[in-house]
Amino acid sequence: MFTKKHIISMRDFSRAEIDAILKKAEELESFAKGKKSDLLAGKILALLFYESSTRTRLSFETAMKRLGGETVNMISTETSSASKGETLADTIRVVSEYADAIVLRHSKEGSARMAAEISNIPVINAGDGAGHHPTQTLLDLYTIKRESHLENLDIALIGDLKYGRTVHSLAYALSLYGANISLVSPEQLKMPDEIKGDLRKRGIDVSETTKLEDVIPNADVLYMTRIQKERFPDPSEYQKVAGTYRISAELLKDARDDMIIMHPLPRVNEIDADVDATKHARYFQQAFYGVPVRMAVMSLVLGAR
Ligand code: NCD
Repeated sequence: MFTKKHIISMRDFSRAEIDAILKKAEELESFAKGKKSDLLAGKILALLFYESSTRTRLSFETAMKRLGGETVNMISTETSSASKGETLADTIRVVSEYADAIVLRHSKEGSARMAAEISNIPVINAGDGAGHHPTQTLLDLYTIKRESHLENLDIALIGDLKYGRTVHSLAYALSLYGANISLVSPEQLKMPDEIKGDLRKRGIDVSETTKLEDVIPNADVLYMTRIQKERFPDPSEYQKVAGTYRISAELLKDARDDMIIMHPLPRVNEIDADVDATKHARYFQQAFYGVPVRMAVMSLVLGAR
């Protein structure tokens, strides 16, 4: 029985709850490919995006529409009342009277938790600044389950581990599955101590390095991330680390045969185009899995049977 009202952080999830969502996603995957369904007929999802998005927003919309539901959108702060100075709290109060659930992306950490306190309909966090991005993690786990294995996983999280919300959420969730986690980042962009501490408390083997080459031979999964340019207080600090890691087909010669490469996307220059055609690339498949996983999330949150 799924009892979560809001989806705010992976820290709120047990392994049994995650497994239930992944199972539901598997059941619904054929509808993501076009089979007709009216599971969410009559339901309206409000998409409130105060930050840019392509996959997250479009896959939530696709998921709702393929299950017979509908969406209303606020995707540009310039054309909404946010530009007139309306607070997020007031917008949430109003929209929670229009729709059946809200998906919120906002630049401020903690904004989704705050919205959930105000809203009388479910709130799903689609990214709160450098905080969390739980539905991305659910689709990442689904990808790992389908394309590799969740048990005894050797995974390297690479890139911007300081500001990257996808890796913050993913690290927590992987700790529930007992993964070996290698953290690869420049010195300035290391995983926050609080998260590393939590992982170690859960008995997870966490190692850190600045060198991508160190982790390639042993990894089951390379999880690449974009350096989060927009989160740097000082643009010159971004310039110092931009382009630090770059995977090319050549660099993968020492990788295991069944190693997979994931990336939440968008990529800037972390993965060369010549990697796309290798047996390792899964990032576009991963983006597709966003649809069945968000179908599962919406059907569970909206109580559809
Ligand atoms: C990510 C995000 O917004 O956190 N994108 C996504 O949702 N797929 C990653 C990123 O922007 O780098």
